[in-house]
Amino acid sequence: MASARLKAPRGTFDVLPEEGRRRLALRSVCHSLLDHRAGLEYVETPAFEDTELFARGVGEATDIVQKEMFTFEDKAGRSLTLRPEETASICRAYIEHGMHKLPQPVRLWYWGPFFRHEAPQAGRYRQFTQVGAETLGSDDPAADAELIALLAELLEEARCREVGLRISSLGTPATRRRYREELGDHLRRHEARLAPAVRERIELNPLRAFDSDDEGTRAVMAEAPRLVDRLDEGDAEHFAEVRARLDEAGVGYVVDATLVRGLDYYTRTVFEFTSGALGAQSALGGGGRYDGLMEQLGGPPTPAIGWAAGIERILLAADPEATGHWGSTSPPRVYVASSDPAQARRAFALLTELRRRSVNAQIEQAGRSLKGQLRQADRLGARFALILDGEGGLELRDMRSGEQQEIGSAADVERLVDPEVSGW
Ligand code: HAM
Repeated sequence: MASARLKAPRGTFDVLPEEGRRRLALRSVCHSLLDHRAGLEYVETPAFEDTELFARGVGEATDIVQKEMFTFEDKAGRSLTLRPEETASICRAYIEHGMHKLPQPVRLWYWGPFFRHEAPQAGRYRQFTQVGAETLGSDDPAADAELIALLAELLEEARCREVGLRISSLGTPATRRRYREELGDHLRRHEARLAPAVRERIELNPLRAFDSDDEGTRAVMAEAPRLVDRLDEGDAEHFAEVRARLDEAGVGYVVDATLVRGLDYYTRTVFEFTSGALGAQSALGGGGRYDGLMEQLGGPPTPAIGWAAGIERILLAADPEATGHWGSTSPPRVYVASSDPAQARRAFALLTELRRRSVNAQIEQAGRSLKGQLRQADRLGARFALILDGEGGLELRDMRSGEQQEIGSAADVERLVDPEVSGW
C-alpha cells in the first residue's frame, strides 16, 4: 500500500540550500553589527516556557495570548507554550540569573525560531525566525536611540527596499490609563460606526481600534484623541530626546501617533520598521520600551527597551541584485580524486589534512571513474584536483589550464593552492 506523502505542517517551511546560504549571510551581518561593532552579547533561551510567563508577560488581552499560542501539557500536566516572542523570556532569564547585579545596562541580542498560530500568508508563518536586541537596566534615551539606530543600520546592510520607520510614545501606565478612559469614552460615543470586533474590545483594549481596516472605525479613529498629546512632562521630554538623537545621527523617521503594537508591555517609546516591498505583512521589525515588565514578572524595577525583526521578511524585502551573492556557493579549492579504489583511505586522510590546514576541499563519494571525478570537480567549480594514482603518486591538476604537476604531500598542496604562492 502506498503511504501518503508527508509534508511540512501548514504555515511552516523547509529552508533549502540556496535560502540556507542567504540566511547564513544575514546572520553574519547581524553578528558583525550587533556583536562585533555594537558589543551586544549573544544569548539563547528555551524554545518553550511555562505558559504563565507569556500570559503575564505578553498580556492576557493580546491576540498572541488569546489566539496564537501553541500550548500543550507535558507528562506531569504542566502547561507549556512554544515561545511566541523573546522579551518575556529574556526578562525571566534576567531575574532567574540575578543579572541586575551585573553592571547596567545589560545589552543582549538573540536569533532563533518563534511560533504563532496565525493564518499563514506571504511573510506570515507559524514558525518564523527573529533576530532581536534588548537593553535592560537603562531608562536613558541613549538606549532607545542606540537600538533604533542599530535596527535601521541592520536593515540598510541587509539592503531592504523601501524601508520606513514610525515612532511614537505611549507614556507611563498612569498616562495610558487616563488616556484609555478618554479613548473608551470616544469609542462609546461613536459605537454605532465601529466594526463589531472593535466594539467588543472597547473595554479590553481600546487602543487596538487604531489597527482596524474597517472604514467606519477608521473615520472614528481619525477624530480620536491622541496619546502623544497627553504625555506628562517627563515622558514628553524623554520622547523629544530620543527624536533629537535620531535626528542628529541622520536616522529618518515619522512620528505616528496611531502606532499600535501587538504586545501589552510597552511604555514610552514604541517603533516599527516597514517595507513597501512587502505585501500586507509589511512590518520588518519593531519594539519599544517596557519599563514595567520586569516588576510584573516578579523582578526588581528595571527599565528596558528592545526590538525584534523577522528574518524571513528581511530576506523578502532585501534587494535581490544587491544581495544576489548571498545565495551562491563557495566552490571547493581542491577536489580529491583517485584513479584506484585501493587509494580511497589515503585520499580521505589527505582530505582531512587539507581541511585542517584551512583549505576548502571535497572528495569523491559516488564511485565515479577518474574521468567522472574530474567532471564532477569541474561541475563544482573546483580550482584544483588532487589526483592519487594506483602506486600512491600524487598530482595536482589546475582545472582551468589542465596543467598537472607531481607533488609530495598535503603541505605541498596547501602551499601550491594558496593563490599568493602559486600565482594561480
Ligand atoms: P513583534 O512586532 O510581535 O514584536 O514581532 C517582531 C517581528 O517579527 C515582526 O515585525 C515581524 O517581522 C516578525 N514576525 C512576527 N510574527 C510573524 C509571523 N507570524 N511570521 C513571520 N514573521 C513574523 C515582538 O516580537 C517583540 N518581542 C519585539 C520586542 C523586543 N519588543 C521589545 N523587545
